[in-house]
Amino acid sequence: MGSAKTRFSFSSEKATSIKADGLIIPVFKKPVPQADSKVKRPQEADPRASIVWPITLDKALKDEIEAIALEEKFDGSKGKTLTVRQSSANKLGARRLVVVGLGEADKVLPRHWEANAHKALAGLLGLKDFKAAAILLPEATEKLSAEATVSLAVDAVFQATYKSMEAKEPGPKLDSVILLSAQKLEATLQQAQALAEARSLVKDLVNHPSNLKSTNTLVEQAKTIGKNSAVKVNVQSSVAWIEKNMPCFFTVAKGSLASDPPKFITLHYAPKSGKAKKKIAIVGKSVIFDTGGYQVKPGDYMVTMKGDMTGGAVALATMQAMAALQPQNIEVTAYLAATPNKIDSDAMIPDSIVNTTCGKKVEIRHTDAEGRLTLIDAVAKAAENKPEEIITIATLTGAASVAVGSYIALMGNNEALRDRIAAAGRSQGEPIQTLDVTEDDFENIKSKLDGADIINTSQRKNRGAQTAAAFVMSGASDAMPMAHMDIAGADMTPDEKATGVSAKTVIQYLLNEDASLGGGKSSAPKAGAATKASPKPAPKKAAPKAKVAKAPATAPLKSPAKKGTAKGTPKKPSDRQPPKGKPAAAPKKKK
Ligand code: BES
Ligand code: MN
Ligand code: ZN
Repeated sequence: MGSAKTRFSFSSEKATSIKADGLIIPVFKKPVPQADSKVKRPQEADPRASIVWPITLDKALKDEIEAIALEEKFDGSKGKTLTVRQSSANKLGARRLVVVGLGEADKVLPRHWEANAHKALAGLLGLKDFKAAAILLPEATEKLSAEATVSLAVDAVFQATYKSMEAKEPGPKLDSVILLSAQKLEATLQQAQALAEARSLVKDLVNHPSNLKSTNTLVEQAKTIGKNSAVKVNVQSSVAWIEKNMPCFFTVAKGSLASDPPKFITLHYAPKSGKAKKKIAIVGKSVIFDTGGYQVKPGDYMVTMKGDMTGGAVALATMQAMAALQPQNIEVTAYLAATPNKIDSDAMIPDSIVNTTCGKKVEIRHTDAEGRLTLIDAVAKAAENKPEEIITIATLTGAASVAVGSYIALMGNNEALRDRIAAAGRSQGEPIQTLDVTEDDFENIKSKLDGADIINTSQRKNRGAQTAAAFVMSGASDAMPMAHMDIAGADMTPDEKATGVSAKTVIQYLLNEDASLGGGKSSAPKAGAATKASPKPAPKKAAPKAKVAKAPATAPLKSPAKKGTAKGTPKKPSDRQPPKGKPAAAPKKKK
């Protein structure tokens, strides 16, 4: 794994006397007075007066901080930091104190807390012999729940210490982190670690170089998750079976049958009691590498396509978290149709008409719209198991990245489901924007050919993300509640590193569902706004300590021969039309 193990614990000790190499204290900023008020304008005001201290400081330390605040104009604004060193005068317990500004309390979102904690940690981790940190958790607000302050602090630690397995040097090692808080949210802490570990696993799998990655990388990881755990793994590697039962997925696999034959991987988690109240299916796009096929990706557009299996990595990471946390009320199955999109003499070509698991006939118009070809069959397979809902995660379209930038484009055919997922993800600090899939989108993927029902690209140049979503959802019936996350703009940073985005959204959503179904025995406390968004009445009481099982954590990845030197790649702007916010309509489609 990329990140080394850090020990986390809670303490209610006085922050300024705690022994550590570094102490982080977040502060809010008082709201800026209105322009018409008699109060001085912000630039004239004393910055010290704007800082809202979460704790009382001893006189010597307070004087020192105030002198620095005045000089450095530190006023608690978002992103500003102020550093103080331990001295005999200020009697700090920690070698160094970093005060981080979060901005005005009522505007602070979970992701702001994470970003600022991450930034402060990153600075401290560069110091000599930095092994132990203490983080004062900010006071909960309406937008930042107490649970979120814990989860996002933990994630900030994982993010700040992460290095991919290919890095020449391992990431900075942080032995221990003390979370300073009056409340000891142990169950939340355990969940937060499972979430952050899941995210790191996604990053490890995605960052892995393309020349060393194959369908077997995902198979091996699935098996690792299944070892000594409550997750059962099944790998279908019979090409004949895939050709017969998942013909559309097989069409993509035809370009790499010799070099890397396809695998259909399923992972199943059910509580030991056998009394799950809800079945949820997770389908992740698992295109190992996307060359575009015969309609090959031009220029630099192929760079970063090692990340086209991010959805599958998220599905695997979700199952790792299920194995670790063992929710008692939900059953979860993950589906990965794994194959590269490559070229050989048998590879798919445009103007083909191919069959699907759901029985619809597909006209291939573009060999680079391969993700939906794998997903339509994986969704149909998931639907055969009759889950209550299906969630798909995919680096599916450049259009999604044009429409929502580095956000997750969250779509679906069921507004309530979509809203619950959005709330869960946002409570975990993930950037999410919802888009509506309309009847027009289903219209626009109808084929004009006699022998085909649907086409794998829309005839129109716009709404590429939504028409792709409509295509994927066509694998199951209209009545099946589905949510679809297009993460094509979110899966990598501008410098081409995996973000691990969407794993926390999916897992937190599952934990929220589990808790809301829990009755007396819920296993997951809810975080933030997710509580309100849940459809079923949930127990208001704090949840009992989550059961934590041993989860395999090491990714079976080979080490690379040599570090790559990929060039910068702009995301493909295949859809320049920003999406219109049309009201969601119940999508209709061809039988
Ligand atoms: N894997 C790509 C989508 C993608 C693009 C992911 C950029 C991450 C970053 C997908 O298979 C693809 O090529 N989509 C095409 C679809 C088009 C041919 C209809 C696209 O978006 O250009
Ligand atoms: Mn493609
Ligand atoms: Zn692709």
